[in-house]
Amino acid sequence: MSRKPKIKQVAEMLSQVDRVTVLTGSGISAESGIPTFRGEEGLWKTYQAEELATPSAFFKNPKLVWEWYDWRRGLMAPKAPNSGHIRLAAWEKIFSTFTLITQNIDGLHQKAGTTKILELHGNIWKLRCTEEGTLIENQEVPLEVIPPLCSECKALLRPHVVWFGESLETAILQNAIQLSSSCEVILVIGTSSVVQPAASLPLATADAGGKIIEINPEVTPLTSYADFSIRGKAGEILLEIDEELNRINRYKGTASQ
Ligand code: OAD
Repeated sequence: MSRKPKIKQVAEMLSQVDRVTVLTGSGISAESGIPTFRGEEGLWKTYQAEELATPSAFFKNPKLVWEWYDWRRGLMAPKAPNSGHIRLAAWEKIFSTFTLITQNIDGLHQKAGTTKILELHGNIWKLRCTEEGTLIENQEVPLEVIPPLCSECKALLRPHVVWFGESLETAILQNAIQLSSSCEVILVIGTSSVVQPAASLPLATADAGGKIIEINPEVTPLTSYADFSIRGKAGEILLEIDEELNRINRYKGTASQ
């Protein structure tokens, strides 16, 4: 099926449900100019994950790991939310139950206005004391001191992100599973669907009888499980679905804008 009729069907489906969950990955931020992890120009082509994004890499060479995160913070700081982030922020207000689960650490969903958000992999704009676990908001680009130290106890601060070999925060993961298994529709946007446990969340939706809508320019391991898989860029497709939703709502006389 070509893109246009799929967009219409997806908008029709969305116009009939109340409980929507969204799962995003780095692809949603690609149109804002932030590189994804995998693929031709992905970060993991240039950098070895195990040398930079693991607890052992950090404790072996905190300066190197922090220089990499400082570089990424510098790259992300001037970037603005794109049309995809903006549509999703607006949808939070039109569905009675709507939560966005993201694997991204860039904070762009919040910049776009999303408030109901679960960050599965943390947030690059927060630092965490390796001794006391205290969280510190920090927007300094570049960081003045690398590696940064806790002002209270002088222990190393680390990026508040989940590294390979680490578990996700239990409460966040449980919440994400609950939201995925209780929604009527999950929109899975811009993720390669290969990193667990995030990749399994849409399967919990399907097991509970909900529908999966995937938006991605490429085929992924999730594609064969999706009720609708729309090929293309998130910013463009979400805009098209939004236009169609507005058209349906105007027709029904329920448009709010
Ligand atoms: P990946 O880099 O694995 O996948 C990015 C996905 O975005 C791919 O499937 C692309 O086809 C798709 N994509 C690219 N441009 C797009 C666009 N304009 N619109 C929509 N989709 C687009 O990134 P993630 O799936 O987010 O974890 O990776 C998952 C996790 O692996 C990350 O959170 C990170 C990484 O290692 C940690 O750091 C713990």
